[in-house]
Amino acid sequence: MPSRVNPNEFYALPQSPQTFKQLLMVAGYDRYFQIVKCFRDEDLRADRQPEFTQVDCEMSFVEQEDVLQMFEGLMKYLFKEVKGLELGDFPRMTYADAMKYYGCDKPDTRFEMTFVELNHLLQGSGFSVFDSAELVVGICAEGCANYTRKQLDELTDFVKRPQVGATGLVYIKYNEDGSFKSSVDKFFTQEQLMKVAEEFGAKPGDLMLVMAGKREKTQTALCALRLEMGSRLGLRDPFNYKPLWVVDFPLLEWDEETQRFYAKHHPFTSLKAEDYSKLFTSPGEVRANAYDLVVNGTEIGGGSIRIYDRNMQKDMFKALGFSDEEAQEQFGFLLNAFEYGAPPHGGIAFGFDRMCSMFAGVETIRDFIAFPKNNKARDIMIESPSEIAPSQLDELRIALLPKE
Ligand code: AMO
Repeated sequence: MPSRVNPNEFYALPQSPQTFKQLLMVAGYDRYFQIVKCFRDEDLRADRQPEFTQVDCEMSFVEQEDVLQMFEGLMKYLFKEVKGLELGDFPRMTYADAMKYYGCDKPDTRFEMTFVELNHLLQGSGFSVFDSAELVVGICAEGCANYTRKQLDELTDFVKRPQVGATGLVYIKYNEDGSFKSSVDKFFTQEQLMKVAEEFGAKPGDLMLVMAGKREKTQTALCALRLEMGSRLGLRDPFNYKPLWVVDFPLLEWDEETQRFYAKHHPFTSLKAEDYSKLFTSPGEVRANAYDLVVNGTEIGGGSIRIYDRNMQKDMFKALGFSDEEAQEQFGFLLNAFEYGAPPHGGIAFGFDRMCSMFAGVETIRDFIAFPKNNKARDIMIESPSEIAPSQLDELRIALLPKE
């Protein structure tokens, strides 16, 4: 045990795999990995389970580029060993571009169909849905102008599902004869629709699908529609692997419900030096030294370069609404450790179950987990969670109160 950190403090206090590996770096280890069980209380989805496994890595004296290079190498090696595939260098995309062109931070880059913003062309013609919108944005589905009424209705129903959340969908067909037929013909001339087609780079035979509304909601809904169209058109072959690094994530994320900022990655993520001055003036604009590895639209891994300076860590807690006392009480072990001169460090964690399902070409991770939970987070085989005996509750000093 290195002597720079009080061993009792060191063993007693780590609260998560994250702070554990950071404290190891502070303690003088220069590289570390753990294959570790994680437990999270999140909404369940095909690629999310409450209990899953991470391959969690950390390194000292590294910058973002070192981490990306090292783990891109690991992934290339795995693709070669597991799938016999030689992958070239992984492309990189900023978070801002991922949102702008794909409407989400984990773009499926197996196919194009990227977003085109249309506010300048479609606002001001008297169609109130567009005129009142923060964002008017669309995608162009090649060769789909022959979609029938029924198919278009199906797409409209799809976007109106609560999981997608849109209020409607506008279509513009670019017919083979060069004319346009749209669901908003009343408001737009053929010349205006031609300008829209040019903006998309559309050809006769293509179908343009447009949505409008609040920026984030519209992006999320169009992202779901893009994936749906990709599936319908057979563009999402699970064995056509397209890895991508998404970089320059925002440091903080505003939560409407609680009216405060939260760390987008985690509160130990460092900020871009050039954005530090904005931390207390425009916190939402500060970018983090954080990155995700995305493969075919699934986040396989994510990490960051950490804060290793006590004052920066204190500022970060302050931006998150902690008083100095609260920060010291909850994270004193880390703040104190930084006083001993922590090395710059950073790392990444891969979702092992997600990696397995990706190599197998299936969407759900359930098949790669020994005792997967159902969508109510229950393990139906052993009927867990279930009631426990009063003696066990006593032992744990837990009391159950009757439901109100
Ligand atoms: P993050 O929260 O991005 O980062 O998680 C890392 C990776 O773990 C996988 N993952 C999951 N897999 C299955 N079910 C879940 N509920 C689930 N949640 C996450 C994903 C994800 O990319 N401590 C940081 C890592 C770091 O900063 O180094 C962390 O846990 O594949």
